[in-house]
Amino acid sequence: MSVYIDEKKCMFCLKTKNTEYQMKADEYGVLKHLWYGKIVNTDMSYLLEYPDVGFSGNPYCAGNDRTYSLNTLPVEYSCEGTGDYRISAVSVIHSNGSNALDLRYKGYSIKKGKYSIKGLPSVYANETEAETLEIILEDTASDIEVVLRYGVLEKLDIITRSAVIRNRGTSTVTLNKAASLCLDIPYGEWEWINFHGRHTMERIPERKPLFHGIQESSSTRGTSSHHQNPSVVLCSSDCTEQYGECIGIFFVYSGSFQTQIEYDQLRQTRLTMGIHPDLFTWRLLSGEEFETPEAVMTYSVSGFSQMSHNFHKVIRENICRGKYKLIERPVLINNWEATYFDFDAEKILNIAKEASKLGVDMLVLDDGWFGKRNGDCSGLGDWFVNENKIQGGLGKLVQNVKSLGMRFGIWFEPEMISEDSDLYRSHPDWAIKIPGRQPVRGRYQLLLDMSRQDVQDYLYNVICNILKSADISYIKWDMNRSISDWYSANLSSERQGELPHRYMLGLYALLERLTSEFPDVLFEGCSGGGGRFDAGMLYYCPQIWCSDDTDAFERTMIQYGTSFIYPISTVGSHVSTVPNHQTGRITPIETRAVTAMAGSFGYELDLGTLSEKEKADVALQIKKFKKFGSLIHGGKYYRLSNPLKDNNALWSYVSDDKKEVLVHGVIFRTEPNMKRMTVKLCGLEPDGYYQIEDTLEVYTGSALMKGGMLLPAPWGDYTPVEFYLKRLEK
Ligand code: GLA
Repeated sequence: MSVYIDEKKCMFCLKTKNTEYQMKADEYGVLKHLWYGKIVNTDMSYLLEYPDVGFSGNPYCAGNDRTYSLNTLPVEYSCEGTGDYRISAVSVIHSNGSNALDLRYKGYSIKKGKYSIKGLPSVYANETEAETLEIILEDTASDIEVVLRYGVLEKLDIITRSAVIRNRGTSTVTLNKAASLCLDIPYGEWEWINFHGRHTMERIPERKPLFHGIQESSSTRGTSSHHQNPSVVLCSSDCTEQYGECIGIFFVYSGSFQTQIEYDQLRQTRLTMGIHPDLFTWRLLSGEEFETPEAVMTYSVSGFSQMSHNFHKVIRENICRGKYKLIERPVLINNWEATYFDFDAEKILNIAKEASKLGVDMLVLDDGWFGKRNGDCSGLGDWFVNENKIQGGLGKLVQNVKSLGMRFGIWFEPEMISEDSDLYRSHPDWAIKIPGRQPVRGRYQLLLDMSRQDVQDYLYNVICNILKSADISYIKWDMNRSISDWYSANLSSERQGELPHRYMLGLYALLERLTSEFPDVLFEGCSGGGGRFDAGMLYYCPQIWCSDDTDAFERTMIQYGTSFIYPISTVGSHVSTVPNHQTGRITPIETRAVTAMAGSFGYELDLGTLSEKEKADVALQIKKFKKFGSLIHGGKYYRLSNPLKDNNALWSYVSDDKKEVLVHGVIFRTEPNMKRMTVKLCGLEPDGYYQIEDTLEVYTGSALMKGGMLLPAPWGDYTPVEFYLKRLEK
């Protein structure tokens, strides 16, 4: 049991293995937030203070009590227009034009198992894994109800949040904001981490103290974006990988989002996360309801490492779905950086031939196989094989690849349309653009209006036809621009503000149809690399191409940031050629391999161009990945250094039983005339004896964690690091 209720006190308590979350409805029915942290087993309302703070008004029900103010109290879901001047979680316009909302406690219910959300991805868990608490709040003046939903996954220390906004009144209201989560923390001094970036440099963690006022991390691009990730961490100022308090939150949504943190006049912290309100309105007719996407939280008392472990487990086991979620992923060879658009069937087959000799499992045919697509100006939408390039058709090519003992995967960018395409010529109205305006092009292309059923049906049919025309085992689902010019010919003017969210609902509906129709196909997400790397996409695609930057050095930073929230098995990562195509940098092939192994491993170059020695290296790398794959994807991942600051990037994978440890990394720069570096390991059995496989040296877990282990003496730049240790039986 994880939901505890004291009806007399109107107190709600969610307990997980190591954490506790408390709320209480007070004498006025205001649902206050009391606690999210370590298990305390005490009503924490004694910590609340009721100061008479100037310019903090008092609700009518409090009479002349100047100490009771919604502007100073921690509330569970904050409203607008009724005296709380901090960030609101929800904002509505009533039929008379007013915007006030005053939510008071109405009731609750508990259910076994975890709630789900209509049309949206969310954490799934069965009745033995989770419990759901729903608390109903209402604004009596307008008959608007808000249901706060909490999914409690006790063993994983995870609490999920979502809200339902119901119009039980008689007239239409417009919803302008509906956050998935509001978290008021009246105590503590917090810092925050957001994950920012750009195309080819995603999810770089940036940690800052809070300033008084509102700080924000958000995207208005219609996608979760390369630029800010829909995830955030609040941490104590002394928080490190292994020590200190932190609260991590990620959003299970792939569209525009907003995370705001307000540090108020009383040094209290409020955090909200949800769909970005600038690109959102929703008309709620009488009797209708709106369900928000989900936000997922965890609290760790032992630093970022524990937070990441909790998130890795819940994403891997309770968000990712399908056949591939826990099994070994195929080692891929992707032709993109080897050929770009310049290929034909023969060239592709030659790449496959070389790859098959070295042990690669699957060939992925990237962009350019369809329509008139010899560059990026045309062809998107025409998902029909271009037989001038793929002579003899896809069936023949797939057959040939299969006869090499390999499987076959293929690239799509379904949400896009090129103006120079047959699809655009026959359905110009399917593209997102505003009548009377020239649309913004991104990579020369426009977007399809995914809110339309006819567009979804077209895409479903053409993708099904391709998948049924040959034995295809994998799809790379790409999306290569940000969205603008929001307008749908299918929506009335008063509903145009719903399009960004309806786009997401349409995309998810299509992905749901296709992933259920083809349960054996592995879907990999992509958006110019990691522009839509979020838990929403991971519900359909258990792996996502992490970045278009394949440079091993840069990747250590991108993957470092990504690992705070997302498990290693979700990170698409390939060895590419040198000089690297994004940076011109040259790194050793072993270095590229240890870096790419921190993910769903593969290659993205013409293996035929390698020397015999390099080919032998590749064959060995693939063998290694097969040997260590389950430890890498299934073990606990530890960040052992910070590549943004240190002269190295080091990380390790430790099996759950602590018997096996793989340390991987890169020493960036060699310093002459210098002693060797050390690294302190994590998560070992302190009293266990660990033997390094290559050197047979034996050390105790305690020594390796407290004193560390010596790294190899580096030579040249970007020296790879690899140690495999096994615990000796006593
Ligand atoms: C995006 C992807 C690349 C590749 C190209 C093809 O940029 O991230 O991996 O598929 O599109 O156009």
